[in-house]
Amino acid sequence: MSEFEPASRVSRIKQSASVAAAARVRELKAEGRRILDLTVGEPDFDTPEHIKGAAVEAISKGETKYTSVTGTPALQTAILQTIELRTGIHYTPAEITIGGGAKQVIFTAFMASLDAGDEVVVPAPYWVSYPDMVLANEGTPVVVTCGEESGFKLTPEALAGALNERTKWVILNTPSNPTGAVYSRSELRALADVLANFPQVYVLTDEIYDQIYFGTGRISSLVEVAPELKGRILAVNGVSKAYAMTGWRLGYAAGPAHLIAAINKLQ
Ligand SMILES: Cc1ncc(COP(=O)(O)O)c(C=O)c1O
Repeated sequence: MSEFEPASRVSRIKQSASVAAAARVRELKAEGRRILDLTVGEPDFDTPEHIKGAAVEAISKGETKYTSVTGTPALQTAILQTIELRTGIHYTPAEITIGGGAKQVIFTAFMASLDAGDEVVVPAPYWVSYPDMVLANEGTPVVVTCGEESGFKLTPEALAGALNERTKWVILNTPSNPTGAVYSRSELRALADVLANFPQVYVLTDEIYDQIYFGTGRISSLVEVAPELKGRILAVNGVSKAYAMTGWRLGYAAGPAHLIAAINKLQ
């Protein structure tokens, strides 16, 4: 039998640094070492009892079978209501996709939209998975370093310098993993003004940490600050961080129906 050769897309990406670090933490803990684990974004509270109870009840009722790839009507309604409650933006069922965690939704969105050579702007510091998810789907990550002077956030000038006719996506992660940086409404507005000049560019807003915020007020989403961009924003979220449901693998995204349809075709 000849030796297994992974596909070239696998050799393009590296082992996830956070997964490797988390494995090392488990080893050290097994040796009895006391470790404060900041490797993966894992809330330090348990999944709330009413959520666990509802899942047990659903399983007892036999709700364990295949559902439509677009999710059950009850889950779709819950997601649409949650988005509207948090952002004031109304979406229809055709404008949301549901998957096995935000990570899978982002991966599938890239798979559904990137062709070889398409560029994705990734502001750094970034969640380790973004560039690899772009590379695995034939795209080219364009990393834009955001320094301390801008609070580790993408400025309009830096964004303008990174955009060109090959740009397909810009990623905006607020609150940010790893820095915790949060974009204000005026900062989002200034980025939207730059994006107005690049009508082919889509924006993936990763809002998975929007409920983990210790400032005053609440996190603003790009789509509520710049509703004119709604047709090219994919707002990604999920239950992992907000409800300490990391192992349940449930993520979703809201965006234009044509993009959602392409993503759902791959689900
Ligand atoms: C910024 C960011 N986005 C997405 C994810 C993935 O979330 P999920 O558990 O829904 O796949 C993580 C997980 O660490 C994250 O830090």
